[in-house]
Amino acid sequence: MAGTPNIGRLDTEPVTLVFDLRRGFAELVYLGGRLPADEALDTLCDVARRAAHENAPDQPVPASILPLGHTGYLGVPTVELLRGGKSVTLQPQPVELRTPRVVGSNRELVFGMTDSIAGVSIESRWQVRDSGVIAIDQRLTLDSGEPATLLRAASMVLPVPRWVSHLSHHRGRWSAEMHTIRSMIAETPRVGGSSRGGRSGFSAGQWLVLESAAGEESRIGAIGVHLAWSGDHTWQLDTDADGQSILWLGAHLEAGEVTLSVGETFEMPQVLLAPARDGRGSLRRLLHRHVRAEVLPPPSRNAPRKVHLNTWEACGFHLSMPKLESLAGQAADLGVERFVLDDGWFGGRRDDRSSLGDWEPSPKIFPQGLAPFIERIHALGMDFGLWVEPEMVSPDSLLYAAHPDWCIHVDGIPRSTQRHQLVLDLSRSEVATHIFDTLDNLLRRHRIAYLKWDHNRELFPTGLRGVSQTRALYRLLDRLREAHPTVEIESCASGGGRVDYAIMSRCARFWPSDNNDALERLRINAAWMQYMPLCSLGNHVGPSPNPVTGRHLSMDFRAKVAMFGHMGVEADLTSMSEDDRRALARHIDLYKTWRDVLHAGEVYDIASTDSAVSGALVVHGSRALGLVTREDFARDFEAAPVRFEGLEPARRYRVSLPEPWPEWAARYLATPERWRSGVLMSGRALADGGLALPLRHPATAWLVALEAV
Ligand code: GLA
Repeated sequence: MAGTPNIGRLDTEPVTLVFDLRRGFAELVYLGGRLPADEALDTLCDVARRAAHENAPDQPVPASILPLGHTGYLGVPTVELLRGGKSVTLQPQPVELRTPRVVGSNRELVFGMTDSIAGVSIESRWQVRDSGVIAIDQRLTLDSGEPATLLRAASMVLPVPRWVSHLSHHRGRWSAEMHTIRSMIAETPRVGGSSRGGRSGFSAGQWLVLESAAGEESRIGAIGVHLAWSGDHTWQLDTDADGQSILWLGAHLEAGEVTLSVGETFEMPQVLLAPARDGRGSLRRLLHRHVRAEVLPPPSRNAPRKVHLNTWEACGFHLSMPKLESLAGQAADLGVERFVLDDGWFGGRRDDRSSLGDWEPSPKIFPQGLAPFIERIHALGMDFGLWVEPEMVSPDSLLYAAHPDWCIHVDGIPRSTQRHQLVLDLSRSEVATHIFDTLDNLLRRHRIAYLKWDHNRELFPTGLRGVSQTRALYRLLDRLREAHPTVEIESCASGGGRVDYAIMSRCARFWPSDNNDALERLRINAAWMQYMPLCSLGNHVGPSPNPVTGRHLSMDFRAKVAMFGHMGVEADLTSMSEDDRRALARHIDLYKTWRDVLHAGEVYDIASTDSAVSGALVVHGSRALGLVTREDFARDFEAAPVRFEGLEPARRYRVSLPEPWPEWAARYLATPERWRSGVLMSGRALADGGLALPLRHPATAWLVALEAV
């Protein structure tokens, strides 16, 4: 049964949520380990309650998922409407539990509140997905009265369980995405998100983790919270004088952007709530399972991820047919499987100042069009991918000359550019149709397996089009995917500026950062990996010195780091030393041998007491591959042994170190022969004893292969 009529119960495999509706609110009274089926829920609700204290409303403020001001809730209104310029006060109406679709499974709860005076109803559906992640969908409908403008509409309000002590969120910028900030939630109110960006943004405001304090004995250690929305958004965490925190998040609405007339509904972007039993590691594995099974679109979901060669950091805008041909030849020799032609192939584009919108091949580079070059790529045994930035237009372009009004603009306000470009207004049907036709035409005329879909500027001024632009983008992508279901799309926005589960339900992979420096990528990738599986994370071997950081790193280190993701190469092979090319080819081979494990396996952190040593072990069935890295120069000569979680303790594994080895470090291997042929160890010994790998020098990486015997 889904609980007694006024108490709702929702179960995932490890977790139960209990909602108390007996006072007319939907109060979240329990979010913790899975309760026995016969738990007395009314008792649980009763013991969660205290009498009012000296300085509180006479009826204690409910910790409700639909908080209303009259209860004494003093936080920001999580739903706010304007009528005739005045704020609409929602009338207190009892929240009801509507019949779940599958009665008795405790898999879905639907809460409803109808305010017949204001003419507004709100519905909140909490559904446990097969992965164990809870999807929350809310909608607001205007049932009667004058039209109303929506100022705020939270997609989810979570009364934070009191065992939670910390919140992690991320901040970032171009080429330095996903810095993690972890802080105690009781200390200060926190607000985050993005506005006027028109994309999820580098600050990645919609990836949040609520955690218990480290070391606390607790069955649940972490709750992931994510807003699946690729546009502006806000999240806020308020803690009241009683110590109760409320977290809400939703799309950011500008005043006047969303106005509802009678009968109209605003569907809020979905929130994913991921309660995990054992902290961040199990949260990561839960989210990876969810993304692989329910977010990434078929058919790319399980397809082997081909090794890419991307021309951007190899050539930049200096494209010519001889250069491209020799690059393609070298790439094929190394084992690359897909050649991706990045920016600079179209119109008169010789730098970033022109031609966005003119998606015809440059006659200078491709006098016969793209087709002969694509045929050449196929003849070399690779498939072909193409960079596009369809939402943009350069003022210096044929498209802009023909349709200067197609860009988002506000009359009387300068059309400020960023990277010398403007944004097309996708909410205008003729613009969306034009973009669809252009891309559809390109894909029909050519054998293109993959599009790198870029988005290189913020949306200022939005002209009140933030929400409609994002929704129009989804429609455009959906339409294109329907017409070309096998074409893989990558979400790139100057790197990791648009990564979220809504865009990723339409894309095969994302570009985590324009920063290909392998040391920087260790941090950036590890942060993304908390939410996204390795199969979706584009990871390229860049040049040395790196064009963004200026740092020199060995090919061995760059290639090993790039293997842990969807591997590619983004460096000029034609000017690479023979040694580097050989090392790269061997790592590409290793990637192909191990990608089934890397992309379907479960990811565990490497355990080490040395903070400069990190890495991941990916376990899939009887095989596992580890990446162990050291960032800086070691304090102690001998780093502590590296330990591997995630294996079966009683099982025996053959442990070897796949070659090539890092040259400097390999000198310190005591018995190189044994590491080649492999040693036998139990999962327990690997987890608690570990391996004494040579890890002394900065930017050293080892691969560790484990096969159960
Ligand atoms: C963005 C992308 C890069 C590259 C350039 C091309 O910065 O993130 O990977 O495609 O655009 O202009």
